[in-house]
Amino acid sequence: MSARTIAAREGAGVVQVDAEVLGNSAVGAYRHLTLVTPGLAEIARPGQFVALAVGDGTSSMLLRRSFSIHRVSPAGTYGATTEIVVAAAGPGTEELTRLEAGASVSVIGPLGKGFPLPSQPVPCILVGGGYGSAPLFWLAEQLRERGCPVEIVLGAATADRLFGVVEARRVADGVTVTTDDGSAGTRGWVSDVLPDLIARTGAGVLYGCGPMGMLRSMSAIASDHGIVAQVAVEEAMACGVGICMTCVMPVADQHGTTKMVRSCLEGPVFRGDRVRWEAFDDGLCRVPADAVGAPKEAR
Ligand SMILES: Cc1cc2nc3c(=O)[nH]c(=O)nc-3n(C[C@H](O)[C@H](O)[C@H](O)COP(=O)(O)OP(=O)(O)OC[C@H]3O[C@@H](n4cnc5c(N)ncnc54)[C@H](O)[C@@H]3O)c2cc1C
Ligand code: FES
Repeated sequence: MSARTIAAREGAGVVQVDAEVLGNSAVGAYRHLTLVTPGLAEIARPGQFVALAVGDGTSSMLLRRSFSIHRVSPAGTYGATTEIVVAAAGPGTEELTRLEAGASVSVIGPLGKGFPLPSQPVPCILVGGGYGSAPLFWLAEQLRERGCPVEIVLGAATADRLFGVVEARRVADGVTVTTDDGSAGTRGWVSDVLPDLIARTGAGVLYGCGPMGMLRSMSAIASDHGIVAQVAVEEAMACGVGICMTCVMPVADQHGTTKMVRSCLEGPVFRGDRVRWEAFDDGLCRVPADAVGAPKEAR
């Protein structure tokens, strides 16, 4: 097993590890992988992600695949480990779900910026859509260590697409479950239950990870209630390390100026009220006409 630092901006460590697969188990519709990642687990924060290589040296799958870090254990029985949750979506993720214990997989991380934590104890609501809830349990623990009351809302299309209901009950003060078809919890979307929950808990921050539509609606609800949303986006990524510009999306800075920023480097966590959600209206990400450097035809 080897670990070596391959890239580092000032103060931002990133390592590449040939990780051993310690475990690969089914959790509902997903696979939960535990990887031995010396050097990575020690420096990761909730909200950051890892990029895994798929295929061998002759594979046509040249690009790494990105996954939120579910948990890290810097000093477990087998050394430092990183856990991820994988939904089989295409050839790369399908291959990863088939990895057996003892197999080796190349991992780069931790990548991106994690969730900012409040400096004062403040009630927080954490919202996860499907496997998007993966990074929230570790975040919940860190928030509670800071004295923040934590509620978790988990939503999915159907009961088997929920991730972490049992774990949520362990790390949160309260848990609400929603499913589109009513097969578990309240029938409907997470956004249906949020306004009441904000009113009941007096939440000052919403944290979210899941589909873009969910992040958009929770950001709107946060703005309506005058509170902050911090959302982890999953914009399609190719390199994951800031080189290729595949992952750019429009985000307004503190002066209101919209810039196309790399979600792998400046994200994946953004303040919900800064993301130009309307640019994603038809599923593609368009450059808003007022973005810095927008092409003439966009203006
Ligand atoms: C920051 C981040 C965190 C993520 N966390 C998770 C997670 O915890 N669990 C999980 O199952 N999936 C997660 N994803 C989505 C996952 O990366 C894609 O499902 C996966 O890359 C698809 O690869 P594939 O070969 O199976 O499918 P294909 O569709 O064949 O992928 C082809 C290419 O498209 C890219 N791509 C396709 N779909 C996505 C997508 N939704 N997001 C980003 N890139 C995509 C792939 O990287 C690859 O380069 C995350 C994505 C990002 C960007
Ligand atoms: S994925 Fe390459 S720059 Fe972000």
